[in-house]
Parts: sequence; structure tokens; C-alpha cells
Amino acid sequence: MKIISNIKDMQTRCLAARAAGQTIAFVPTMGFLHEGHLSLLREGRERGDLLALSIFVNPTQFGHGEDLDRYPRNFERDESLARECGVDLIFYPNAEAIYPADYATYVTVEGPLTTTLEGTCRPTHFRGVTTVVAKLFVIVQPHVALFGRKDFQQLAVIRRMTLDLNLPVEIVGMPIVRETDGLAMSSRNVYLAENERKQALALIDTLGLSVQMVRDGERNVSKVLESARQRLHVEPDLTIDYVKICHAQTLAEVETVDQESVMLLAVSVGKTRLIDNGSILC
Ligand code: PAF
Repeated sequence: MKIISNIKDMQTRCLAARAAGQTIAFVPTMGFLHEGHLSLLREGRERGDLLALSIFVNPTQFGHGEDLDRYPRNFERDESLARECGVDLIFYPNAEAIYPADYATYVTVEGPLTTTLEGTCRPTHFRGVTTVVAKLFVIVQPHVALFGRKDFQQLAVIRRMTLDLNLPVEIVGMPIVRETDGLAMSSRNVYLAENERKQALALIDTLGLSVQMVRDGERNVSKVLESARQRLHVEPDLTIDYVKICHAQTLAEVETVDQESVMLLAVSVGKTRLIDNGSILC
């Protein structure tokens, strides 16, 4: 396994692999790897001759007052987990390399896909995500890139960008990996104090209750959302950013639950922001 920080070196190495007929599988991350990331790496290992992982805490996707400075980092641990998953190349650039002082180019997916849900709470977030992912694609030149479905909207936005820019990359969305008690794996879970960790389970509980309500015959979205909010409000340290039921592809809010409906939730527990989602008619 090689660790490369220099952009030109990474690009040269990846272009040479392509020229030699190798398929490149790529997992972009911000590091502090957990089982969710490892599931992407294992799938990437199956799909690519060369498996590349990037570790870069991307400043442009954090808004003012968000957790950029305290975002968890542990490169040594990430390195050994990557080795166990059979990663060939770790791309580990610094912020000055990705965004030099005279940097001026951004990639933006316009319209409702980026202005709803996360976009209402974090207006500059997706511009940062699409900019860095586009740059990483140009550097790593992957045939296939893997992303977790926990960031459901991010996945939709990246698919849109890839399609709109005709990028020759297959985007693969992988299932959410959960702790045994159901909490979706996230690097941010380490922020949670013990009592907050318990309250965070309201997310999976709410998803489960909503699925059950739909199974019992309720199709009216307002009613399902009302009961979801009631469940979340039970937790004293939990504040709701949004709970919505949307069409899985367009992310437009729907009035009636159907096979395409997905529930998306964003809450803060104490100071920690958590998101989750799930199909609602399954
Ligand atoms: O999902 C993430 O970890 C990040 O948003 C990504 C895709 C690596 C871009 O920085």
C-alpha cells in the first residue's frame, strides 16, 4: 500500500494504472474510518484491480460554525484499517494542495436537489462536496466510485453531477451500516456523550415506527410525519432540523407514501448533528 500526498504523483500513478488496463475503484472519505467506510472498501476491492482511498477533511463543505476544526482524525488507525481492506493507494493531500491561495473554481449542482433538506440547513455544503469530488475524480480517474447511502442526498447530488458532466465514472451507492443497536455509523458518533448516544437511537426508532405505521395501512405523509415528530420530541436534548418523506430520485416532498418514498431525518443531539434515512414502504 502506498500513501501519496502530492496531486501530480497520484494522478500519474492512476493514469499509468488505467493505461495498463487496470480498473480503478475509488472510495473518497474524510477519514476516521468506521465499518460503513470499510464496507465501501471491501466492495471496491471486489470491483477494482486497483483500490484507491482518499482521506481529506474538505474545508469547503463545512459552513461557518460547523465542526471543521474538531472533526475527528486518526491517520495511523485509518492507515492500518485501509491495509486490512486491501487498499493499494491512499491519497492524503493537505488543504493547501487541493485549494491553493488563488483557487477560484467550484462545481455546483443547481436546483432543488441541493437546496432542499441538507441544503436548507447547510446552504454551501453541496457546493463543497461536488467541487472536491469532481477534483478527486480528475486526480484519481476512477472507473467506479463508492458512496454510502447514509448520505442519501449527497449520493443523489453526486449522481446528478456525474451525469451532467458526462464523467466516465460508475457511482455505486452502498447500504447504511448500523451499530448493533441500530445507530447509523458516522464519524461524528464519537462526539456523543453516553446519554446523548441513547437519545440518538430515536432516529432508528422513528424510522421503524414510521415503517410500521405504513405497513398498518397509513399512506398519508402528514400523519406519518406528525407521529415521527412526536417520537423525536420525547428526547430532551434532541432538536429536529427536518423530518421529511420524499421521492427517492427527485427528493421532492410527497403527500402519499408509495414504493419510491424515503424518509429523511436530520437532528441535533446536544451539539452533534446526525442524519439518517430509510425506505418507508418496504
Ligand atoms: O461523505 C464524505 O465523507 C464526504 O462528503 C466526501 C464524499 C468524501 C467529500 O468530501
